[in-house]
Amino acid sequence: MNCLRSKSHLQKEMAQSSTSNSSDMDNSEQYQIRLLREADKVKYLALLSQLTTVGEISDDQWKERFEELSRMNDTYEIWVLEEKSTSNLVACATLLIEKKFIHGVSQVGHIEEVVTDSAYRGKGLGKKLITHLIDRAKILKCYKVILDCKEDLIPFYASCGMKQHAVSAAVYFE
Ligand SMILES: CC(C)(COP(=O)(O)OP(=O)(O)OC[C@H]1O[C@@H](n2cnc3c(N)ncnc32)[C@H](O)[C@@H]1OP(=O)(O)O)[C@@H](O)C(=O)NCCC(=O)NCCS
Repeated sequence: MNCLRSKSHLQKEMAQSSTSNSSDMDNSEQYQIRLLREADKVKYLALLSQLTTVGEISDDQWKERFEELSRMNDTYEIWVLEEKSTSNLVACATLLIEKKFIHGVSQVGHIEEVVTDSAYRGKGLGKKLITHLIDRAKILKCYKVILDCKEDLIPFYASCGMKQHAVSAAVYFE
């Protein structure tokens, strides 16, 4: 199956992750957290469209980008939360690993593109997925995990164990 990390490598890391994630909520039987697969195109893009504009993406464009990201699987992980009974993708989030020279050739985790399907919000699923990404960043030896969000989402990220820190700046080219 074509997914964004080799299976054996991932299984080892997932085992470590589930050990460290003792705060799993009682919905763990109903949902599984896994990496994005090439076959997820329609469901994943539908989720992202609840966050921002996605645009028209052809099958060829999807395949090309998916394969490009698969080759970067030591720095780029797209995670999804799937409802087992329906196979619906109900949440997604991306973990980017930034490799640095500072702090003794350290790494920083960046969380991006966080969405829970509107029909599944308020059930603790976003928190479950973000907690998983934070655990992953720790396993991958990041010294911190950061993200940008609007002020009103600070309570959500605080519920995942994150604290407000500094401010961000941006310039948009389009
Ligand atoms: C933000 C979002 C991911 C939250 O997902 P969710 O699955 O509904 O969140 P959860 O049910 O896991 O909530 C976990 C906690 O955060 C709180 N929370 C969730 N959304 C919140 C919000 N918009 N504002 C304040 N608190 C919020 C919940 O009350 C819950 O608190 P608790 O642990 O004390 O009970 C979801 O609303 C979403 O996809 N929004 C649209 C896309 C978006 O804005 N993404 C974030 C980009 S930075």
